Amino acid sequence: MCGIVGYIGFRRADQVIISALKRLEYRGYDSWGVAVKHGNSLEIIKRVGAIGDVENYSLAEGNVGIGHTRWATHGKPSEINAHPHTDCNNQIAVVHNGIISNFQSLKEELESRGHKFSSETDTEVIAHLIEEEYRGDLKEAVMKAVERLRGSYAIVVMHAETEELVAARYKSPLVIGVGDGEWFIASDVPAVLDYTNRVIYLEDGDVAKLWNDGFTIWNNGKEVERRVETVPWSIEDAEKGGYEHFMLKEIHENPRVVEETLLEYLEDDIKIDSRIFAGISDILFVACGTSFHACLVGKYLIEGLTGIPVRVEYASEFNYSNPPLSRTLVVGITQSGETADTLEAMRKAKKLGMRVLAITNVLGSTATRVADHVIYTRAGPEIGVAATKTFIAQLIVLYLIAAKISSLPPTEIEELLEELRNIPQKIRQILDREDEISSISNTFAGYENMMYVGRGIGYPVALEGALKLKEISYIHAEGYPAGELKHGPFALLGEKTPVVACVVRDKTYESMLGNIKEIKARESPVIAVADEDDEEIEKFVDYVIRTPSTIPLLTPLTYSVALQLFAYHIARIRGCEIDKPRNLAKSVTVE
Ligand code: G6P
Repeated sequence: MCGIVGYIGFRRADQVIISALKRLEYRGYDSWGVAVKHGNSLEIIKRVGAIGDVENYSLAEGNVGIGHTRWATHGKPSEINAHPHTDCNNQIAVVHNGIISNFQSLKEELESRGHKFSSETDTEVIAHLIEEEYRGDLKEAVMKAVERLRGSYAIVVMHAETEELVAARYKSPLVIGVGDGEWFIASDVPAVLDYTNRVIYLEDGDVAKLWNDGFTIWNNGKEVERRVETVPWSIEDAEKGGYEHFMLKEIHENPRVVEETLLEYLEDDIKIDSRIFAGISDILFVACGTSFHACLVGKYLIEGLTGIPVRVEYASEFNYSNPPLSRTLVVGITQSGETADTLEAMRKAKKLGMRVLAITNVLGSTATRVADHVIYTRAGPEIGVAATKTFIAQLIVLYLIAAKISSLPPTEIEELLEELRNIPQKIRQILDREDEISSISNTFAGYENMMYVGRGIGYPVALEGALKLKEISYIHAEGYPAGELKHGPFALLGEKTPVVACVVRDKTYESMLGNIKEIKARESPVIAVADEDDEEIEKFVDYVIRTPSTIPLLTPLTYSVALQLFAYHIARIRGCEIDKPRNLAKSVTVE
């Protein structure tokens, strides 16, 4: 995700800002930029790639400035697209985190009034909007401009002629760092911790003005007081947002990731180009690891909602197969966009003349260059090796694709989308119950084997749950279709092999209860992951991980988050190296 830094005080702003941006490098970025006020003009540098040594850069002397690390979302990584962005006269500079969902219409409107744009970003519209509203008071202009914005934003703005910074926040974090005679503003605490540990967390709707003697915060046009808090963490802790591991932080980011991905693709209509799917006879998914499990969920969704036949293949196996030449759409899912096997499968499909769609989290990654079409997930960089929030973001995109090309009546699709909009809140409720899940994890942390089972859409959820557990806890865990247990795995059951059952209240429910009885008869302890309205289930199992009720088709979202927490806490209790499991890599660029 992008990072923001702003400074006003007595030091050289360029040095403070560049060193603070380096503190945000762990979040991942592809380009960066800084603006400093010098006399009555702004000096700006922008670069693609890593920052490197702070001493390499020296802007004109000045004590007010802003900076940004960009992780591309709208427009490729380039100097032109890097922030800060400016108005037509280079008087106003803006850095921005978040997504402006109505930027296209704002851009057209501004262009019709003569504004010239130089970048492909959504951010640039903010600079031009502020320019239109500016009548000598930057704070007033920012307040008026943000009224026009839809989506999410954390922005910091400066003007060439005034010694001040103005910031605004809506659904994207911003924190003021309070120093002695100097003030900082940043998207994340680590950026300011070298200078101060006294911070103020801004709230949604806040607009703040920082100048040489202090700061003022308004909300809804009225001045408000916000508490100064002392950060008790070291820089390293702060990078993880106070969480013990990046993986836990990323699991907790799931609600925001769902919101951001929905914001990008779902307004009144689903904003996915239907031409990608025009005239296709079937769909073939290719992927590896967690992304492969997302594909399996996608198969259920697309076949269920559209009737279009779907196949799913491990990318590494597709390379040996001889697919029939037809009007197949090949969909490569890869969070990194760099997995060698998936790229090879996509290249092979292209050579065979098939249309290729990439679903990826990384703008400009190799997958985006191989594919004919790209749909981005909006999960932000993921640092933990085991995929969590990127998986949930992949699922969201698959729900939207299935809904977009669905042959079901519009009212049914509207119901699905309505419930999809409730998912962030439901995931938050699961995260609120983390202690309950952790105490169940405590009971099972000492086992060496576990089975995960599911039926229908619960089956890929079981596979992904087992993968998470084995990756980070080193417990041998296998995912199985519940109906297949009797064809082999029954031999492994017993009191030393707990079974996690993903129980969905759809047409598979009765059969699942039957399978659970069979498992219990073989003395395996059973943990069910189930909807909270399911009153029956506790009669059949030893433990229940409950998730807020939702429609069966959406349970992969809620159940998977619960199973991410379950695996995480088992690994934590076992003292494993959770963020960097042995022998595994985040991006596997060899076949
Ligand atoms: C590696 C990672 C997994 C990931 C898989 C596929 O094995 O450790 O977490 O699921 O690669 O990665 P991709 O970037 O293609 O989704």
